[in-house]
Amino acid sequence: MNKKVNQIHLKAPGNWINDPNGFIYYKGMYHLFYQYFPYAPQWGTMHWGHAVSKDLTNWEHCGIALFPTKYEDQNGCFSGSAVEKNGKLYLYYTGVHYDKINPENIHKCPKNQFESAQLMIDSEDGFSFDNFNRKKVIIPAFTDKKTADRTHTRDPKVWRGKDAWYMVLGSKTEDNKGQLLFYRSKDLIKWEMVNRVSSKAEFGWMWECPDLFETESGSILVFSPMGFLKDGKREENQTICMPVEFEEETCRLEFSNHFQFVDYGLDLYAPQTTLDEAGRRILIGWMRMPAAVDGKWNGMFCIPRVVEQKNGHIYFRVHPNVDQMYRRPIVSWTEAEEAGCKLSLDLKEGEMLNIGGYKIVRKENRIYTDRTNVFEKYTDYRVKLETPEIKEGYHLDIYVEKNLIEIFINNGEYVISNIVYNLNKEIHAKLSGSFQIYTVDKK
Ligand code: FRU
Repeated sequence: MNKKVNQIHLKAPGNWINDPNGFIYYKGMYHLFYQYFPYAPQWGTMHWGHAVSKDLTNWEHCGIALFPTKYEDQNGCFSGSAVEKNGKLYLYYTGVHYDKINPENIHKCPKNQFESAQLMIDSEDGFSFDNFNRKKVIIPAFTDKKTADRTHTRDPKVWRGKDAWYMVLGSKTEDNKGQLLFYRSKDLIKWEMVNRVSSKAEFGWMWECPDLFETESGSILVFSPMGFLKDGKREENQTICMPVEFEEETCRLEFSNHFQFVDYGLDLYAPQTTLDEAGRRILIGWMRMPAAVDGKWNGMFCIPRVVEQKNGHIYFRVHPNVDQMYRRPIVSWTEAEEAGCKLSLDLKEGEMLNIGGYKIVRKENRIYTDRTNVFEKYTDYRVKLETPEIKEGYHLDIYVEKNLIEIFINNGEYVISNIVYNLNKEIHAKLSGSFQIYTVDKK
């Protein structure tokens, strides 16, 4: 199923996708795997879907890479990551096995009764995965509650350290606090636990999809605490990030007191980072959607973003490959409904922009958005979002496509991205300046 997809945002090829997995630049191509339920536009027994791109702008679907074959992953191949060694691709993921099967729906586990083990599989070329013969269990499900939870321990992120390979897993403690488990390996096969870490400040009850990486100005931790935002709105689970102090030898990690949301639209979840062709740290995340589009597909990814740290602040900028696609000036975005468009402008205090029913306002030095009119009946979700206070500069680069608006403020100082449905064709503005609209060049 090699299907070329001429689109910047990778979307479910039908049915359901969630987290990006195994994101890697390998043998001259970006490989992006993802959590995939191939039978219906809803979450269920997880497979890994697979797509590739030469440049992060055009994607090609490559079908299913991983599917359940073993006792340990009988009920799903959950999230994980990829590394390369000596030309081979290694995938690490969590296998889940349900204690009981719900006879009415074998794809969902009744009451969280399942166990999780960590597995790996290798591939010579990044395209063929021998699901029957090449999977190995590297960390069995925990039996000792004091160390980690047998159910909620998952999402291995592996990286090459100075003198060994490292892995971080998301987990929870016995008293329901998030915790990270750190492992080390010499050969990518045998793993030993080095440290367990939780934070003083409480961030939810379990941490999904941890990702720890170095930047020129120190380490950054990105993680997705469950049960984090308890304002009665969906979703409670949110992705946050912070500069941390990390010492590889001991895997000692010091949290900061201050965190940022990776995206202030609060729809982005479970992102994953990797290094791009030029060595930049890049992030891609799942944009959660309350309903399938045309009843057919649910789930898409954000624009790949470059992660940088300056003066303790973490920036998420549009990847330059994607940005340079938007070159053809247009006057109305109806000309670009399929391809999408980009608007650039500066917003002064009190000014506003209404893109097809999605409102963006600057007030008291914050950017506020309101999707009430383009979010149908999803009233249990947040519709009004905002940035923290911004000290100076209000330059907005807004990337619009049928179901997603991504607003990059001051070149990634803050980002607000929101899922929308049924945008209308008009743009209304109350602005002193002007704005330009660009669309993607036809190939
Ligand atoms: C995050 C997550 C991961 C898990 C996967 C299952 O969205 O819950 O923790 O591995 O999705 O699909």
